[in-house]
Amino acid sequence: MPLPALEIEAQKLLNGNGRKNGQAVPTLWSERFAQRTQRMTSSVIRELLKLVEKPDVISFAGGLPAPDVFPCAEVEAATHKVLAEHGRAALQYAATEGYLPLRELLVRHMARYGIKVKPANVLITSGSQQGLDLIGKLFVNPGDRILTESPTYLGALQAWSAYQADYLTVPIDDDGLDVEQLEAQLRGGPKFLYILPNFQNPAGVTLSLERRRKLVELANHYGAPIVEDDPYGQLRYEGEHLPPIVQIDAEYHDCGGGDGEFTGDVLYLSTLSKTLAPGLRIAWVVAPESVIARLVQMKQGADLHTSTFGQMVAYEVARDGFLDRHVRRIRELYGQRRDAMLAALDRHFPQEARWTRPAGGLFLWLTLPAGLDSAALLRQALEQEKVAFVPGAAFFPRGGGERTCRLNFSYCGPDVIEEGIRRLGRVVKRLMAERR
Ligand SMILES: Cc1ncc(COP(=O)(O)O)c(C=O)c1O
Repeated sequence: MPLPALEIEAQKLLNGNGRKNGQAVPTLWSERFAQRTQRMTSSVIRELLKLVEKPDVISFAGGLPAPDVFPCAEVEAATHKVLAEHGRAALQYAATEGYLPLRELLVRHMARYGIKVKPANVLITSGSQQGLDLIGKLFVNPGDRILTESPTYLGALQAWSAYQADYLTVPIDDDGLDVEQLEAQLRGGPKFLYILPNFQNPAGVTLSLERRRKLVELANHYGAPIVEDDPYGQLRYEGEHLPPIVQIDAEYHDCGGGDGEFTGDVLYLSTLSKTLAPGLRIAWVVAPESVIARLVQMKQGADLHTSTFGQMVAYEVARDGFLDRHVRRIRELYGQRRDAMLAALDRHFPQEARWTRPAGGLFLWLTLPAGLDSAALLRQALEQEKVAFVPGAAFFPRGGGERTCRLNFSYCGPDVIEEGIRRLGRVVKRLMAERR
């Protein structure tokens, strides 16, 4: 589809269905949207990206896991088992906190990577996205400042902007958050810090151990709690696992180990979306019990509880070591795809471009040669070469990033990656030649 047509389609999407001859059709409802929704605009880029789900477009845009590794057979077997053995409980309302055997399993799972808490410290949520929303609902007053990395996860900005948050930002480099620049922002009095330590979305970078320690020290010095969002920590393709911030903080306070009460200043979020399947919508928040009790109240207002049936199925799939075995399989597949994308970039991109080399996760981050703009690149890439990615500017809470792009490497197979990067490289070179 030529780009003007794409734009018209996107505009239609942005305008919603309530338009007639290009004019908004007022309804009693459209005059009654809450003031806070004025900040919640859809981005044209996001809407354009909805159009790239066409079969002939190679898309590095979504944050999608590879469906090749969805455990379909295991989910099918677990579904039968849950219905046969616990059908009535599975289809009934249940406790907001979540299915206890699943919470116990997650506690054992986390203990292996350094997080020592009890089931009472775990709240099951409908995706980590809901965890972020509940945190916004519980903590954010209009005008509160949240300190984020720049760039950061767009979904968190969407969740918290609805509660009228403002943002303080700290840039990142190849070792994650630049802790040298953190202190100045901490003086701005953030309500909390939002940190993605492992294979960050969007940039793919990992916070070094030294910086994790410095972050905890500084956050404690300024009395600022941390939200640690870790959907990708298990998906490491090289190097050693690094201790999560929640663990470093617990050691700093000498709490949260062994049988002691977990009272740390870090809320930790993780999810089964990237290690089993995102369609299950099962994730969890780790917090001190007093915070869990309040998050439970927030969740009751939202959805009472996460699907009982879904939690039971997820538990049956994950138990008896399957989750770990499955993660090993995913690591192998995604590691190959990451390598395929890095090799293709080396082959097809001009020297003036730079990109990160993620040790895990789903994304890498590309910085275009000086003078190029990633939104303009997306237009041309879609129109001329049918290839898509996400322009980076959307991930910067306070603007910037016009030369950056997020590329996903988990979804497409190596041949498609090679072809997509070849096409994208061609557009980049063409744009550079035009500038000259
Ligand atoms: C950093 C980050 N947090 C949260 C989420 C949401 O995950 P979930 O599918 O569990 O809602 C994502 C999804 O891509 C993510 O990248």
